[in-house]
Amino acid sequence: MSGKRTFTMIKPDAVEKGYIGEILAKITEAGFRISAMKMTQMTKRDAEKFYEIHKERPFFGELVEYMTRGPIVAAVLEKENAVEDFRTLIGATNPEEAAEGTIRKLYATSIGENAIHGSDSDENAEKEIAFHFSGREIF
Ligand code: RTP
Ligand code: MG
Repeated sequence: MSGKRTFTMIKPDAVEKGYIGEILAKITEAGFRISAMKMTQMTKRDAEKFYEIHKERPFFGELVEYMTRGPIVAAVLEKENAVEDFRTLIGATNPEEAAEGTIRKLYATSIGENAIHGSDSDENAEKEIAFHFSGREIF
């Protein structure tokens, strides 16, 4: 059965450009409930651990540099079929390939700097939520 929770980060490029409010509006208009949220800055160690799956990829160094260069907004989102529906809302990794109206189509700069993260499975959503939030921070 598909889960009810996913994890997101509004990434440093979108925070720098002042898109936090518009992106949160898109998320809530799409029917997600925000059950935890914080503005924070990832350390190099955090980013290396969070994106460990990509550590052998050629873009890993750039990815860590990008994700640590400024604040992010991390959040837990609730909805039926949360993981899949949120991936649809954010659009393809490369904004040039993202569908019209998706968050990446509207706000991303490039494949590397693509404005927002969304978990890719229920299992990873739970891991990512636990990475960023304690139980007491989720409402
Ligand atoms: P995310 O995990 O952040 O939601 O993104 P995603 O699933 O759509 O894409 P993924 O393959 O997991 O890649 C993670 C992030 O790495 C950066 N990236 N750069 N320069 C490149 O070719 C490249 N490819 C990926 C992006 O920031 C991507 O979101
Ligand atoms: Mg991913």
